[in-house]
Amino acid sequence: MLNQIVDNSYEKETAQAGDLAALASTKTNYFIFRLEPGGLFQTHRGVIPHDQLIGMKWGSEVLSHKGSPFYLLKPGIYEILSTTKRNTQIMYPKDIGFILMKMNIGLGTKMIEAGTGSGGFTQILSLMVGKEGHIYSYERREEMTNLARKNLAKIGAPENVTFYNRDIEEGFDQKDMDAVFLDLPNPYDYLAQVRSALVPGGQFGTLLPTTNQITKLLLELKRNNFEFIDVCEILMRFYQAEAEKFRPVDRMVAHTGYLIFARPINRLDQSNE
Ligand SMILES: C[S@@+](CC[C@H](N)C(=O)[O-])C[C@H]1O[C@@H](n2cnc3c(N)ncnc32)[C@H](O)[C@@H]1O
Repeated sequence: MLNQIVDNSYEKETAQAGDLAALASTKTNYFIFRLEPGGLFQTHRGVIPHDQLIGMKWGSEVLSHKGSPFYLLKPGIYEILSTTKRNTQIMYPKDIGFILMKMNIGLGTKMIEAGTGSGGFTQILSLMVGKEGHIYSYERREEMTNLARKNLAKIGAPENVTFYNRDIEEGFDQKDMDAVFLDLPNPYDYLAQVRSALVPGGQFGTLLPTTNQITKLLLELKRNNFEFIDVCEILMRFYQAEAEKFRPVDRMVAHTGYLIFARPINRLDQSNE
């Protein structure tokens, strides 16, 4: 199940029963679902039986019973994230892309994230770390964990995610994790917990919307012996992809959050701790 989404090789040219598929009419109008014999795709723009899609070549145009056109596409992680049902702010693809690289998150990574929120980031982490890796995801609000479970079920309820309904004030169950990422308002209050869950020299990252929060975090990072600190933000501007009037789009997301990274170190005078 994990490989099906990560492996975007198009080895099989046609859609098969059990595949995750998208019907899209525009770049932002995506419907993602699993193809099931006898299933029906239904929107206000008409109905398309799954049996009509099974065996069809990816990229083909298909009409609903009302004559509305859609394209049959294999959804990628960008579309999966963009269509995630959310009750919280979820992280943006531009930020996630850099976080994965900066924190060295890939096949086999074992890591903690908190809070789970709607599970937007959890889905991407699960797909990235694969069967050999594991995501331990902590969230204090039960309704959020339930929503995240539902969102994860859409990509096949991967076995490499374990959810905990818990305030991280109480600490984490894991030790020697490769990485810990916190997406919650006060990461500076939990650095002792992060330190005891991370392998020395491991990767810590967090996202904060305001500079006031960063100042507090920087002070606490030093106090808790974190070094190699980086603070950055990622700006991204889309362009109108039209040959005759190629220029930036009118609106952009000007601010999502600052990204802060650091690594816990053991100084010579603490090496026997
Ligand atoms: C912005 S959302 C996380 C969104 C998530 N990263 C995503 O991409 O969907 C922040 C979440 O952190 C949770 N949270 C805040 N403080 C927490 C704590 N001390 N322990 C556990 N969860 C916490 C909140 O309940 C909320 O659901």
